[in-house]
Amino acid sequence: MTSGRFWPRDESLLRAVVDWSVNRIVDGQDPMTAARPPEELLDEIGDTVTAGGIGGAEALRLFTEVLVPATRAQDDPMNLAYVAAAPTEAALVFDLAVSAAEIFAGTWESGAGAIAAENQALSWIASLLGWPAAAGGCFVSGGTMGNLSALVAARSGAETPGVERAGRWMFAASPAAHSSIGSAARVMDCDILEVAGDGRGRMTGEALSAAVAGLSTDDRARLFAVVATAGTTNAGVVDDLAGVAAVCGDNDVWLHVDGAYGGAALAARSVRSLFDGIEGADSFVVDPHKWLFAPYDCCALVYREPVHAALVHSQFASYLEQLDRSEWNPADYAIHLSRRARGLPFWFSLATYGTDRYSEAVETVLAVTRGVADEVRLRPFLDLVMEPDLSVVLFERRGWSEEQYQAWSVENAVSGTVLCVPTRWEGRPVLRFCFVNPDTEVERVARVLDSLAD
Ligand SMILES: Cc1ncc(COP(=O)(O)O)c(C=O)c1O
Repeated sequence: MTSGRFWPRDESLLRAVVDWSVNRIVDGQDPMTAARPPEELLDEIGDTVTAGGIGGAEALRLFTEVLVPATRAQDDPMNLAYVAAAPTEAALVFDLAVSAAEIFAGTWESGAGAIAAENQALSWIASLLGWPAAAGGCFVSGGTMGNLSALVAARSGAETPGVERAGRWMFAASPAAHSSIGSAARVMDCDILEVAGDGRGRMTGEALSAAVAGLSTDDRARLFAVVATAGTTNAGVVDDLAGVAAVCGDNDVWLHVDGAYGGAALAARSVRSLFDGIEGADSFVVDPHKWLFAPYDCCALVYREPVHAALVHSQFASYLEQLDRSEWNPADYAIHLSRRARGLPFWFSLATYGTDRYSEAVETVLAVTRGVADEVRLRPFLDLVMEPDLSVVLFERRGWSEEQYQAWSVENAVSGTVLCVPTRWEGRPVLRFCFVNPDTEVERVARVLDSLAD
């Protein structure tokens, strides 16, 4: 410990935290770790926030021995529930460096170096979209915040001073859009024009066109945007982006593409054609913390013409007057001001391994998905619900009830074999695997499928 500073320095504690972190990155986390009842946890950790403090060594012990084991191993290759994560070692360890550098990355003035690197990562994404070099945006916490920020920018672009509309603003989306889209509508006090999906839940240009044509003149004036999904959460289906973009162009409405989960597949040549038409979108989100191998929390939000976002998101006040507005201030492009340079672990990983390796990693995950879909087809007691577009496999166990799916899911979670939670397709319970980890092996998943035979 040293004196002469307010907070005592304990270098051995700093090293212990770093050592534990590096070991966690190298060894991974036991897949049997799981949530525990709050009373049990509180009982075990006792009062940790006390007048005198419990000391860093004890807090670290509780974290490593009690708290982390009460969290789910998101990056385990057999975590196939929800949308898991598979950050690279480089990305994970760099998150420590980003913390240590303590960068305020809301404004260029304070975060220039970090923002320059983040912007290169965003430019790579914009290049995958086929967007002009002027495209740009910022990193936000997740798809939920990215979708909301983009829709707020879209609405602002549609506003004409002095022009009143009869009723609330409205955007179009399909029922398969992520729950964050409904949340955005509630926050923005907007209506949603529901556009029915096709047999796979895919929004088509035809269905969108019919929905828009059915609007009264007043309602048409309320429509400011369409949300298409590039990789639905439940089924991994990509909307008919070309058809939807054409209808948006014809009607002069903003097209936002939610690629929070599936946008990663833009990097994969084998499925790139599914994204045709995305070059016509106005805003886009993808979560590197999902399938682009970065740690939480990291969503890339990109605008084709960022000025629309800056017009509504820039914050002004006397204490902000000195900011240079001609520089790239990430605070201008989403609902935030202070921000961590949360795109840097993603940037570091991209810089370390290269974009070719990234493409290969996404292709590997797609190949695993196709391999697992084949394994499902081989088993007479299973039915594949649909051919996977991306990396979600929906399938049914013939004759099983909801309770049987649930019991099987819990049993496998408890044994640490696989995390797979049932979902619904057209109202009936089905199983769902979502792959994001290039280390997931088809053979291991095939053994899991065998366990469904009994
Ligand atoms: C398509 C889609 N959009 C948005 C989200 C929300 O992203 P986040 O959880 O990062 O807020 C998700 C999450 O799974 C998603 O799959």
